Order: sequence, then structure tokens, then C-alpha cells
Amino acid sequence: MSRSAHPAGPRHADVLPEGHPSAPPADLNHLDRKVWASTVTRTPDGVVSVGGIEVTRLAEEFGTPAYLLDETDFRERARAWRTAFGADADVFYAGKAFLSRAVVRWLHEEGLNLDVCSGGELTTALSGGMPADRIAFHGNNKSVHEIETAIRAGVGRIVLDSFQEIVRVAHVAQSLGKRQRVQIRITVGVEAHTHEFIATAHEDQKFGIPLAGGQAAEAVRRALQLDGLELIGIHSHIGSQIFDMSGFEVAAHRVVGLLKDIRDEHGVELPEIDLGGGLGIAYTSDDDPREPHEIAKALNEIVARECEGAKLRTPRISVEPGRAIVGPTAFTLYEVGTIKPLDGLRTYVSVDGGMSDNIRTALYDAEYSVALVSRTSEAAPMLVRVVGKHCESGDIVVKDAFLPADLAPGDLIAVPATGAYCRSMASNYNHALRPPVVAVRDGEARVIVRRETEEDLLRLDVG
Ligand code: LLP
Repeated sequence: MSRSAHPAGPRHADVLPEGHPSAPPADLNHLDRKVWASTVTRTPDGVVSVGGIEVTRLAEEFGTPAYLLDETDFRERARAWRTAFGADADVFYAGKAFLSRAVVRWLHEEGLNLDVCSGGELTTALSGGMPADRIAFHGNNKSVHEIETAIRAGVGRIVLDSFQEIVRVAHVAQSLGKRQRVQIRITVGVEAHTHEFIATAHEDQKFGIPLAGGQAAEAVRRALQLDGLELIGIHSHIGSQIFDMSGFEVAAHRVVGLLKDIRDEHGVELPEIDLGGGLGIAYTSDDDPREPHEIAKALNEIVARECEGAKLRTPRISVEPGRAIVGPTAFTLYEVGTIKPLDGLRTYVSVDGGMSDNIRTALYDAEYSVALVSRTSEAAPMLVRVVGKHCESGDIVVKDAFLPADLAPGDLIAVPATGAYCRSMASNYNHALRPPVVAVRDGEARVIVRRETEEDLLRLDVG
């Protein structure tokens, strides 16, 4: 999902199949700061380290494949979002990107809120100690049981996703003798520039209530009438891995337009708007993400301007970054196994994981980068495809990349920017054991999600 490819350079014609779009980087040992977590560095002896610990040591202690998460980087990113938006806004980390109790604790300590979208995420959030009133509950098909659990727990808001859910949540709240704070998620009709599967604001899809045809206005009418609901705002999430702010601009314009219509019709100024998550990160050197302070400035300005135009009090803004916080903080460490050169094509490098720990390449054609991390090499660049060990030819982790030609079985390679939507979308395909997440900070490593074992697999098999 990188946006552009490097132009082919004649110097590298010998390592590229004809017509191949990219060229190798000048120095394969160089770690591009854009894609690696902040404490990742190469030690003088050539081994890459994170949080002050060499990956060779981490591999010995925790095995491979493993997700290595830079806790310092995570906290810095969380704090940067919090600081950028300030006291007049709320940052809800989107738990779907990656959630564990340790992460919940860090978020709590750094002053962030949490967005969950299932009973399982809600349980993890509560179990990690996030105060319920700082949790937002999302989802297009929340079960009555999930709704009941969320309301009983006292979640700060439920984001209503359909006409049926407006009634369902109101009914459950009333039966529990409560009035639930809610937002209504609308689709503003924006075509976000991202992969079709992760664009969510155009109308022909399952999320939200369309603004078009007055449907969102009708949803507001109904919600305002129901005793079990306290409507606090409007929610919009336009998609994921987005670099261009213009989609957010259109979304803010339309959400504020709805707030104005609500004021005109009902005499009510809703106090909050949520503009969702979706900010892109660098997966390869070609991606240029924006910093949280730039995003905050842009969003605050857009909303303030729109509200001034509509003569509305500026509502409290919230945002829901997931990938932009956790994505760059982790990399996946693999051990190289079979290496298969295919003449005139490329070399297939098999690792000890694959689509079970990173489905994003197969699912979205996502682009990743890769580096040799257990040593440096001065060998010539070799065009590789990093593949897993699953029984599927689409089992690709990195589609096109360069590694040194002296790569050998037993070398450690790492794929950066795998903190978001990798462990959280991991599977047991071929009965693979899902890798651990190891948090590293100031010379200390600690497992925050342990590796699955064969006993774990067999425990579920009760036949
Ligand atoms: N808020 C809502 C309502 C969402 O649906 C999402 C993501 C987010 C926030 C966080 O978006 P982020 O800041 O992480 O982009 N599995 C896909 C991404 C799916 C995103 C789903 N919703 C991927 O791997 O790219």
C-alpha cells in the first residue's frame, strides 16, 4: 500500500528482472528511521538492537517468529497524540490495531482513552484497568449481550451504527434503569484514497448510517426521542492508512453541517464530534506520514472554521488512531529457512512464519520492507520475495525487496511496521502457533502476549 515505487536505476539492472519497478537502496545495512521503531539501531558489531537489546539475544530467549515491540516508542507516540490534541479533545486508541493488558495500562498511564469493537476487546480493556467511562464501544453488529455488558460496565459511549441498534441500545439501557451516552456513526460519502477493503465512508458498505437522503437526520430524530439514550455527538470514520487530509476535511464539513441541521431542527447543539482514525504510517521508505501535531492542527482548524461558518459552538473533538500509534512500534523477527533462487525471476526466501502472523500482504496487497538484522553484509543486493511456510502460494510477507546475496539459512531478518493489524489479525492456519509479543524497554524484555503452544491448540479440540 505504499504509494509509489522507486524508478529503476541502470546501476541495478543486473539484479532486476526486466520491467521491475524498483531499485535496491544504496546501502542494505542502513535502517531507514521512517519505518523502524525509535530505539532500533545497529550496534557496532552489526547486530540490530531494540530497547538496548540485540535481536540475536531476543531470538535466543523468545524464539522466532516474534513481534518485538518498542515500549518507549509506543509511549512516545501515544503521548505525542495526547499532547497534540490537548485538553480540549480526546484520543481514543483503536484497540483493534493491537490490544493486550499491558498496552491498556500504558494507554491509561499516558492519558489516552480506548475504542473497542467487540466483547473480547471490552473484556481486555476492563481487565487491563481502563476506566469504563474512558471506553467507547463500536461495531456494526453488537450483540444484545455485548450491549448489556458494556452498559452495565458503564462505558463512556456507545457508537450507534444502525436504526435497529438505536432501538436495541435504548431498550437495554432502559431495562437496566440507565441512560447511555451515545454517538451516531454516519457515512459522509467520502471516497478515501486507500484500499477498498479499508475505506469506510462511501455509502455502499456495512458501517454507519448514510448522511444522504436525510437518513442520518432521521436517526438523530429517533435517538433524541428515546429515554434510554443521551445523544452526545456524531461519529465519522472514513477509512484506514490514509495520507491525504482532504477526506477528513470533507468529512468534518459534512458532520458540522449535520450538527447545524440538528440545532436548527431541535434547538440542540451536540457537544462532541469524533472524526475516527485512519492516519497512514510508513511501511516503506516511499511513504510520508504526517506527525500528530500536524494532524491535530489541520483537524482543529477545519472544525473551528466550519463551526464558525455555521455559528455553532466548537464541539469537543475526538480521534481514534490505532495504526498510527502502534504500527511503527513493532517489527516481526523471523529466521531464514529455505532460500530458492529462480533464474531470471527472483529469489524466494522462506521464513518460519508467514500469512498466519501477517495477513496484510495477501489481503490488501500491502507493501513492507525487510532487513537482515543479525549481521551486516557487503554482498550485492538480491531481489527477494519473503514468503512463509504455509500451504498457499499467496503466503507472501514481503512481495518485493532486496536482501544481500550472501543471505543464508539461520540469518535473522526483520519486517518493520508490523505493530498494527498483524498480531491482531493472526490466525492458526495450518495450525501455526501465533507468535508472542515481546515488549522491550531500557534493556529489559518482557513477554506481554505469550507464544501459543500445541497444548493451546489441543485445548480447543474437544472431539
Ligand atoms: N475507528 C474506527 C471506527 C475504525 O473502524 C478504525 C479501524 C479505527 C478507528 C482505527 O483505524 P487506524 O487508525 O488503525 O487506521 N485491518 C486493516 C485495517 C482495518 C481498520 C478497521 N477500522 C489493515 O490491516 O489495514
